Amino acid sequence: MATPQDTALRHASAADTPVLQLDTQALEAVRSSTEAGAALPGDVAWRNALVKLLNDSLATELVCVLRYKRHHYTAHGLASTAIAEEFAVHAAEEMGHADRLARRICQLGGEPDFAPATLLQRSHAAYDEAPALKEMIHANLVAERVAIEAYGQLVALVGDKDPTTRRLLEDILADEQQHAEELQGWLTE
Ligand SMILES: [Fe+2]
Ligand SMILES: [Fe+2]
Repeated sequence: MATPQDTALRHASAADTPVLQLDTQALEAVRSSTEAGAALPGDVAWRNALVKLLNDSLATELVCVLRYKRHHYTAHGLASTAIAEEFAVHAAEEMGHADRLARRICQLGGEPDFAPATLLQRSHAAYDEAPALKEMIHANLVAERVAIEAYGQLVALVGDKDPTTRRLLEDILADEQQHAEELQGWLTE
């Protein structure tokens, strides 16, 4: 038979151990929800705000594709060949980022904005037509740093509210950090 001390001990250890269990109220809310389709994070206003931010990032990626493409085709000289090829690699990776953002925007019930007329004004990063290789590298490095800052802020804003979008943003952020490191390396070579 349990003594009063045993009972007190059991209560004490239960209070000390963190509870590891699912939120059954949240599960019930989903079960009884009348909203059709895929489960979406946040409410409509939050999703609309997120879609707007993701569209700004999409515009940034598209401007980065154009800038890297321009640099790929206009970097001349023997020393430029390897770097010009890397500009093409970066352009392809920025296009991959654009595709992933566009897909996520659609999943969130939004529309990806590819309108060319407003691309530059919606982009965080600038376009660049510098003639010399060193200036090109510098312009790309600045653009990558801007992207890193923007994605870092986005990750913090999304927080735990939308893990799928946050993972996507963290993936892209890691790529941009790698781009910046490569560019920084070429500048200091
Ligand atoms: Fe990118
Ligand atoms: Fe990048």
